[in-house]
Amino acid sequence: MEAKNSLFMLLLLVIICNGNAQLYLSGGPKSNYTFPKDFLFGVSTAAAQIEGAWNEDGKSESIWDHLVHNNPNFVKDHSNADVAADSYHLYKRDVEMIRELGVDIYRFSVSWPRVLPTGFANEVNPLGIQYYRNLIDELVKYNITPMVTIYHWDLPQKLQDIGGWTNAHIVDYYTDYANVLFKNFADKVKYWITFNEPMQTCLEGYGGTYRAPALNRHGIAEYLCTHNLLKAHANVYHLFDKQYRPLYGGKIGMSLDSNWAEPKTNSTKDIEAARLYLTTHLGWYAHPVYSTEGNYPPELIKLVGQKSQKQNYSRSRLPEFTPSEVDFIRGTADFFGLNHYTTYLLSMADKEVGAIPSHANDVGIIRVQDPNWPSKSSSDWLKVVPFGFRRLLQYITKTYNNIPIIVTENGYADFSGVDDKARVSYYGHYLNALLHAIHVDKSNVHGYFAWSLMDNFEWDDGYVSRFGLYLVDFKSPNKTRTAKHSAKLYSSVVATRGLPADYDPADFTAFSSAPILVSTMLPLLALYRLL
Ligand code: NOJ
Repeated sequence: MEAKNSLFMLLLLVIICNGNAQLYLSGGPKSNYTFPKDFLFGVSTAAAQIEGAWNEDGKSESIWDHLVHNNPNFVKDHSNADVAADSYHLYKRDVEMIRELGVDIYRFSVSWPRVLPTGFANEVNPLGIQYYRNLIDELVKYNITPMVTIYHWDLPQKLQDIGGWTNAHIVDYYTDYANVLFKNFADKVKYWITFNEPMQTCLEGYGGTYRAPALNRHGIAEYLCTHNLLKAHANVYHLFDKQYRPLYGGKIGMSLDSNWAEPKTNSTKDIEAARLYLTTHLGWYAHPVYSTEGNYPPELIKLVGQKSQKQNYSRSRLPEFTPSEVDFIRGTADFFGLNHYTTYLLSMADKEVGAIPSHANDVGIIRVQDPNWPSKSSSDWLKVVPFGFRRLLQYITKTYNNIPIIVTENGYADFSGVDDKARVSYYGHYLNALLHAIHVDKSNVHGYFAWSLMDNFEWDDGYVSRFGLYLVDFKSPNKTRTAKHSAKLYSSVVATRGLPADYDPADFTAFSSAPILVSTMLPLLALYRLL
């Protein structure tokens, strides 16, 4: 009997602990707050992931076309984006979906090789311009605000052939390209994003092999790429600010990707590692633009400088900005675009980490995820940790002088299906965390975009990982689009400006095929019955 009683107590403890653990993950108790009236709700996509028509009507090859055509093994399902969701032909249906959702704003990107097939502004492709004009007109017709990402990873391969983002002249080429977009569209487009996730372009594309052009020149190329890209960003900001804003108004910023960094333990070293992660990853791009002082974060300058010296380089592998460049880049954004999906645990490395030389090695920290964090996502990195979202928003608000934040991407990937319970749950939790961030923490968030409007070409995951609110049947000739349950949830949030009545902040069961609670309890229950 005594054993039975003890087991009963144990069962009770498991139930209580599980509830608490799940509440700890959530961004806070269920919030009765609502989103402000003028809060912007939107959906995001990118040209290379949805348009298809990769060589139609004068478009030239992008670095992603080039990479996947030449290395089909790069993509999990050996697919490519030649047709993708065929939005080049189906944009009217896309706008119809946006209307069904009831959102205020649509974030899409322009394909540089579609508009400027040579990479340069010497030849502007009229059919490319016409496509985006049609899309913008269709949006405006239905009162949907267009937000344009100028660069979302699809550089013309012709520019990559001459060094891409490591070639210092790209600052001019990119400015010419942006100028063509402003000239043609700034009368109707009031939100501009210069770059989407520049860290993915430079760190993973030039330093590593995870993104195109998969150059793998770590320790050198990620720093050159970033240097040119930040100058290009500032140049385009000033161009817009001087020549186009006075004529048409509008806002311009950049979209940075950041995980939240939680110390792995409470040790001073791990707390320092988490801080260093944010400073040297997010801060690598954010500090030059959004901080009061400008320039790269002092710690990054110090760490790369010391390592470079030790490695016998004549100068730091991190290029230097001149004081006038620091001034030119600082303050060049009207808002902070944030793409956020997940959280990591950080600790200090006690030996060399990463390839030598590399940004990872220069910084010297270790990043892992808690295996108990819920997720059954098709993207193995996508653990569901809503509290991290809330903390990150507070961190950005505090660190970068209360800059207005627009969450330009947030979402969840699964293996497909209309009954997408996990995505519904993810959005519930992250939007709850966002409400707490706005109302309790006073984080300065002005907008939120779900990634993504529809299933699309998820880079190296091909069509295996689905992020859409709309399911796309890639096998059907018309790439049929069907609203998932998450589309219904999102449209109700947009309409009511609040969370659905049945949202439960402690409920993470949608993320485990054998929920933690059940899997721990079943053996205990069996034992209980035997006693
Ligand atoms: C970041 C990128 O901007 C987008 O292109 C990608 O599909 C999503 N995150 C999901 O990985």
